Amino acid sequence: MKYCMAANWKMNKTVPETVEFIKAFLPMVKDITDVEIVISPPFTSLYAASESLKGSDVKLSAQDVFWEEKGAFTGEVSPGMLLDAGCRYVIIGHSERRQYFHDDDTVVNKKIKAAHKAGLGVIFCCGESLEERESGRTFDVIGREIQTGLEGVSAEDLIIAYEPIWAIGTGKTATKEQAQEVHAFIRKTLKTAYGSAADAIRILYGGSVTPENVDGLMACQDVNGALVGGASLKPESFYKIVSFKKES
Ligand code: PGA
Repeated sequence: MKYCMAANWKMNKTVPETVEFIKAFLPMVKDITDVEIVISPPFTSLYAASESLKGSDVKLSAQDVFWEEKGAFTGEVSPGMLLDAGCRYVIIGHSERRQYFHDDDTVVNKKIKAAHKAGLGVIFCCGESLEERESGRTFDVIGREIQTGLEGVSAEDLIIAYEPIWAIGTGKTATKEQAQEVHAFIRKTLKTAYGSAADAIRILYGGSVTPENVDGLMACQDVNGALVGGASLKPESFYKIVSFKKES
């Protein structure tokens, strides 16, 4: 299974900043063929990014999508529009969307289905808050997010990102043991839903991934890549992450 390293830029970078990043980043990663590299700029930079990425293997992702194809939905962007702008993937269900924009499990499910229908790959995020972890509800929360979020969703072109909310942007990473424990639970839950097709689903870890901690996290059996926020904003730092040391 090919590792997937995805940058989530969140609400950062103008068009010139996006183009400048890509110009610096592409030469650094030109010889990396065994890792799928994805960058997710804000909507406004997608088209410029896709033009700048032409001829490279680096894939483009959006950070959200709406489920309708077109019409009177002021401010929204459809799956077809993302494809048209050059996207291969879309991140759905990020905890910041869930927390600030009311993307609940049902909304997340609709968005995933619409994205798949249009032919976009999906990076589906799940994860527990600190309070949920401390009260012993981690597996309940993630189980529910997966069950409802992925209800009726195909295992094909699906990537899962486990992002403990307490580790996002806090500098507090999950330990290897904590990450592996939840990733194994996610794998088991996916197996119940998809059978052997679950073995091919990549499960990324996200939450304060850095060049310093990436090797250890990627060595965990059920960790198949990373979703990286803060440390993906500089080409050098994201390059160090995508060129992590694989165990031989
Ligand atoms: P972080 O963000 O790497 O800055 O913690 C990860 C994410 O939210 O995808």
